Amino acid sequence: EKGNFRHFMQKEIYDQPTVVAQTLQSYVRRDDESVALPQIDFDLSSIKRVTIVACGTSYYAGLVAKYWFEHFARLPVDIDVASEFRYRDPVLEPGGLAIFISQSGETADTLAALRHCKANGQTIAVVVNVPTSSMAREADLLLPTHAGPEIGVASTKAFTCQLAVLAALAAHLAVKRGRMTRDEERKVVRNLIETPSALNAALAYDDAIAAMAHLIAPARDVLYLGRGQDYPLALEGALKLKEISYIHAEGYASGEMKHGPIALIDEHVPVIVIAPSGPLFEKTVSNMQEVRARGGKIVLISDAEGLAEAGEGCMATIEMPQVHPLIAPLVYAVPVQLLAYHVACVKGTDVDQPRNLAKSVTVE
Ligand code: M6R
Repeated sequence: EKGNFRHFMQKEIYDQPTVVAQTLQSYVRRDDESVALPQIDFDLSSIKRVTIVACGTSYYAGLVAKYWFEHFARLPVDIDVASEFRYRDPVLEPGGLAIFISQSGETADTLAALRHCKANGQTIAVVVNVPTSSMAREADLLLPTHAGPEIGVASTKAFTCQLAVLAALAAHLAVKRGRMTRDEERKVVRNLIETPSALNAALAYDDAIAAMAHLIAPARDVLYLGRGQDYPLALEGALKLKEISYIHAEGYASGEMKHGPIALIDEHVPVIVIAPSGPLFEKTVSNMQEVRARGGKIVLISDAEGLAEAGEGCMATIEMPQVHPLIAPLVYAVPVQLLAYHVACVKGTDVDQPRNLAKSVTVE
């Protein structure tokens, strides 16, 4: 089943252009370049507030989606990890949409949060990869990802497929709420349709990333920095690295570094900066200077423009294709996954079955 791949995780990373395209087929219409959600019998334009709940990598997909729902649809979004959600006694007013994101559809905390929201009158949307799962059965609005079975304990292709669905949902809500013109919708759809080829372009850096893995493998701690919608990718990068390589890693919002974690920086702490060029780039460049001034070693993941501006003096750089901000998180997920994968291979850990972890967490 692994074919020519060494591990399921590696295969699943490589599956992404195909399964993201497969997933998008159910959410965009190529003929008139529009977003098309599965049939539902209630009016999404009446939604007042969105609540997102998930765990782990699925939660990070939700964090990215928060930016999209707020930016494109101007909808206020609350987001929590499922294990915290019920215990803060959230205010759930009528007319709310609650979105649960899960690869397995069986994660106990997420399922309990879903039932809590249902009991409190929320409309339940579920972004799920297993169509026969408990969450899929209990949803009002089922938004399947078509990633196919994910075997590696570290989630990869489920994440990018979740992002694809959530991007389409954000655009759909924006259209329904009169916040997105037909022209903008077409543009978003064209960008989504281009995602698989951008993912292929990102995969083309696999060898380069494999070659730099030995720079990270000896580290005891690694810091990941990102800003705006790339901040959740920093969190995801750190999670992926710690899960499979057992290196302590933390994801931080770039601007938050100077409020604490900068104290950790020295020549032994690699800092992975995830920063496509754009309006937030300059600020991240200042954060990189702060790291460099303390002897920190930077790996910059950016596009040609970003690397031309800030690549000099980095320990290593990874060049991504220049992409629309809406699909950047999907594309930048690839180098983050590959880096964790190759570091784990250098360390010789059990990539597909890391210690202490289960694929599906069915206890609260
Ligand atoms: O099946 P789910 O998406 O609900 O699982 C959530 C988390 O347990 C999962 O994403 C976990 O964090 C992965 N091991 C991440 O790689």
